[in-house]
Amino acid sequence: MDNAEQYIKNNGMQRNDAKDIIGRYVDKMVWKTNEKVLDIGCGPGDVTSDIIFQSLKNKIKQMVGVDKSKQMIEYAIKNYENSNLNFSVLDIDNDNECTIYSNNFTKIFSFFCFQWVYKKSDALVNMYSMLKNGGEVLIHILFLVPLDEMYKHIDAEWINYLKDIKCVTTPISSEEDAKALFINAGFRIINIESIPRKYKYPDFSSLLNAMKAVDPLLSILPSHLKSRYSIHFNEKICEAGVACSTTGTLTYHSLIVHAVKD
Ligand SMILES: C[S@@+](CC[C@H](N)C(=O)[O-])C[C@H]1O[C@@H](n2cnc3c(N)ncnc32)[C@H](O)[C@@H]1O
Repeated sequence: MDNAEQYIKNNGMQRNDAKDIIGRYVDKMVWKTNEKVLDIGCGPGDVTSDIIFQSLKNKIKQMVGVDKSKQMIEYAIKNYENSNLNFSVLDIDNDNECTIYSNNFTKIFSFFCFQWVYKKSDALVNMYSMLKNGGEVLIHILFLVPLDEMYKHIDAEWINYLKDIKCVTTPISSEEDAKALFINAGFRIINIESIPRKYKYPDFSSLLNAMKAVDPLLSILPSHLKSRYSIHFNEKICEAGVACSTTGTLTYHSLIVHAVKD
């Protein structure tokens, strides 16, 4: 998931959901002066800049987008940085890296990232310590992850490669799991919302491009196996029941957690 150009061409669903969530939650948050906002897993920075920063720019002093991918951050800096919006490399489940932001932010957002985070409880403890008292988090988590559903159907040959991808082994399996993770990290949950969703791409090939842009398995495969895996992928994503080849519709499930550090 390091190819910023490929991701940005195919992230209609992510942009759509970020707009919807920001639109519904910003007015439910408490806004004061000198707000400092963090966006975790900002990817290439377009959602951070076009959607989050655009809707908050009159309320905040500074915004920082972070991502563990150096390539994504390089793209974000080149295309979206301005005097009130910066980007930096940071792995949210790495305690050492996060200490530089201790007690620093008043709001933390994260869209379409948390399902990929390996050590979720460590990541939440880090978010808690990066917030000032009274700070709020708004975290979007993919709950039914289309790629995870697809991986359940792929042939044994490809499953061997999955062992090298850590995030696949740490899904959140229920709303209760998510609640417990946030509460154990110290947060008080204001609202938790679980939403079954569908997104219609222009056609099936656009849907496939969007899924392949975020498929970690495709990015670690040796080059000579990629086109064969890609054909297998096209069949299995439908067999998994998450994609419709006639309408180009993707089925997934979002979990949105709004919580506060008291
Ligand atoms: C699907 S992209 C989402 C990008 C953007 N938030 C959006 O909504 O379009 C997920 C991003 O999360 C990043 N990511 C995954 N694990 C992370 C971690 N532990 N710390 C920081 N970023 C992480 C990935 O590098 C990737 O760029």
